[in-house]
Amino acid sequence: MRAVTVDSVPASPAVTEADTPRPEAGELLVKVAAASLNGIDVATAAGYLQGMMEHRFPLILGKDFAGTVEALGEGVEGFAAGDEVFGVVMKPFLGAGSLAQYVTVPAGHSLARIPAGLKAQDAGALGLAGATAADSLNAVALVEHETVLISGAAGGVGSLAVQLAAARGAVVIATARPGAQTDFVTGLTGAEVHVVDFTGDLRAQVRDIAPDGVDAVLHLAGDGAQLADLVRPGGRIASPAGLTQDAVKGKDVTIHPIMADPNAPTLTALAEQVASGALRVPVTATYPLAQAAQAFAAFAASTPGKIAVSCS
Ligand SMILES: NC(=O)c1ccc[n+]([C@@H]2O[C@H](COP(=O)([O-])OP(=O)(O)OC[C@H]3O[C@@H](n4cnc5c(N)ncnc54)[C@H](OP(=O)(O)O)[C@@H]3O)[C@@H](O)[C@H]2O)c1
Repeated sequence: MRAVTVDSVPASPAVTEADTPRPEAGELLVKVAAASLNGIDVATAAGYLQGMMEHRFPLILGKDFAGTVEALGEGVEGFAAGDEVFGVVMKPFLGAGSLAQYVTVPAGHSLARIPAGLKAQDAGALGLAGATAADSLNAVALVEHETVLISGAAGGVGSLAVQLAAARGAVVIATARPGAQTDFVTGLTGAEVHVVDFTGDLRAQVRDIAPDGVDAVLHLAGDGAQLADLVRPGGRIASPAGLTQDAVKGKDVTIHPIMADPNAPTLTALAEQVASGALRVPVTATYPLAQAAQAFAAFAASTPGKIAVSCS
């Protein structure tokens, strides 16, 4: 099969011929229709995850996938060939990724069915970013009328988080560069979103909107400790981007470090919101598998939203 691989790290991802995986007991073999890029794919290729996770070479990159069940491993029940599924590769090693024509995944976790009304291309861009956004909002327990600052709002996680936060009835302050990024963030939801320019005086802009500080922050980018200064006393920060309580010592703010858990209920809930029209998967560019290198270049070049890869 064709797959996006690296033979060592750091290295530039390349489209190569790889062995088609066989499903082990409890696994599904999925024919991948669509996948998408996430920061972890770029970080893996750049060698940043060395020493943190086992790397199996040639290493196939990719976390998100959507496609069709092709074959079942021993003992799998509840699925049949032809079922349409999507999810996230969550194996305890790197190398069996989804940027490929086929991927094997456990049938019991990090996988859900694609409901009617959700296109495979969108499903392939939803799993990891959507779960990270949902887990972050749940961690800070954001409720109606609270004010949330989403730092990194134009990215894959941020553009889903903006929509989910607005749907909770929160006042959303979203960071973006002036120009195309700001236009993109403004257009994410019908609800009003306050867009602030993170390349300017962020503190002044946020204080204009929330003079006493925001109730919560989603730290998806930027300096987390500086963001903590924009939170009201007793406020909360969710950080999938590595901020810890230690980094804000002495400040009356609770840090919730996030390790996204794209479990089946979370994926199903996200998929249903998309299918009902309540949530839009913000795919802004789609590349064929053969042009994966261009997709990685686009990810590095400030492309807002999600970058999808068509694998069929
Ligand atoms: N822990 C987990 O389980 C988990 C899971 C998924 C993602 N993550 C992390 O979550 C973060 C967001 O992921 P993502 O996929 O959404 O990344 P992304 O698509 O690269 O988005 C990041 C966004 O932040 C913007 N940005 C850069 N510097 C900024 C600053 N100083 N202030 C505000 N915004 C800034 C970027 O704009 P430009 O491109 O114009 O610079 C980009 O729009 C990443 O750190 C990723 O590693 C963690």
